[in-house]
Amino acid sequence: MHNKLDFNNKTILITGGAGFIGSNLAFYFQNNFPKAEVIIFDCFRSDKTFLNGNLKSFGHYKNLIGFKGNIICGSINNKNDLALLDNHKFDFIFHHAAISDTRVYDQEIVMKSNVNSFYDLLKLAKKNKSIMVYASSAATYGNLPSPQTIGRENPENPYGYSKYVMDQIALKYSEENPELIIAGLRFFNVYGPREFYKSKTSSMVIQLAHQILDGKPPCLFHNSNQIFRDFIYIDDVIQGNIKACSPKKSGIYNIATGISRNFQEIADILQKELNTNLGTDYITNPYDGYQMNTQADISKTKENLNFDPEFTLEMGISDYIPEIIRLHGSKNI
Ligand SMILES: NC(=O)c1ccc[n+]([C@@H]2O[C@H](COP(=O)([O-])OP(=O)(O)OC[C@H]3O[C@@H](n4cnc5c(N)ncnc54)[C@H](O)[C@@H]3O)[C@@H](O)[C@H]2O)c1
Repeated sequence: MHNKLDFNNKTILITGGAGFIGSNLAFYFQNNFPKAEVIIFDCFRSDKTFLNGNLKSFGHYKNLIGFKGNIICGSINNKNDLALLDNHKFDFIFHHAAISDTRVYDQEIVMKSNVNSFYDLLKLAKKNKSIMVYASSAATYGNLPSPQTIGRENPENPYGYSKYVMDQIALKYSEENPELIIAGLRFFNVYGPREFYKSKTSSMVIQLAHQILDGKPPCLFHNSNQIFRDFIYIDDVIQGNIKACSPKKSGIYNIATGISRNFQEIADILQKELNTNLGTDYITNPYDGYQMNTQADISKTKENLNFDPEFTLEMGISDYIPEIIRLHGSKNI
């Protein structure tokens, strides 16, 4: 249990609950607070794709097999769908639904999807007096040098900008409604069970592991030992969500380890865990202005949320390996 809050007999909305982080949160409540009433709101996936070829939404029923709570299929962009939530009174809202693909460059679609819906969900939180925890992103920082620190942002893609705007809206809403608790969580590079259905947008941990399990050398960009990220395991992200429900104050918080590791280390840890010695294949990095280092400043998160990440990269990968093996060869559709 991550803090003393008792979620039993509370009503909890999780938007994006068929996705990676949302479904893990749903199971956290089911396993630890069997009397909590959890309602998932998600549009699930259809066969519609963006111009980049990726699906428009990644929610998948397989992330929810075994979940016993309520599920509503609807879009946060459709007011009639959102009206289906009107007959509930939510104590907590975890707002994770979004276009989570950082490589969707249609600004209109990203802004409409991620930003406009946020006004409606904040209104719902105000009406219900719910505690609102929502997903922001490390993408708000763009390519700024580490440590990534709240208050210094420079998004470099429409997705990062949409999350940055959500943060501005949240800060203003908090100021105007000081009685509400609103916490925005800037997740860094999350990996762990139930990310598989994010396909090409899932973490490099599962993508490299499945290459290795195919018997192929993991494929990385040249100089990957110099490309650093702040990788965070899903269990610590869940801890962040839970602790964000009783913050010392409303605000925006980095959810990360505060430690940067490189992509070569991921490949090497995986080969050690999987007992292989396949070497590494290197390809040229096709991206201009690629971020070379993220390492979050988590001092404010520690202070105000009492956040204390527990998983090193080695521990997270080791915990994840059985699930990675189970999913190897599964159809990602
Ligand atoms: N995973 C990460 O590394 C990471 C990093 C930073 C921020 N985030 C943010 O955290 C949140 C959760 O991310 P995730 O990794 O679980 O992504 P995900 O894509 O697995 O989950 C998002 C969910 O939202 C649903 N969704 C999309 N559009 C919707 C709509 N219009 N109406 C209703 N549901 C809709 C999708 O079906 C999906 O189930 C997102 O807001 C994402 O931007 C994630």
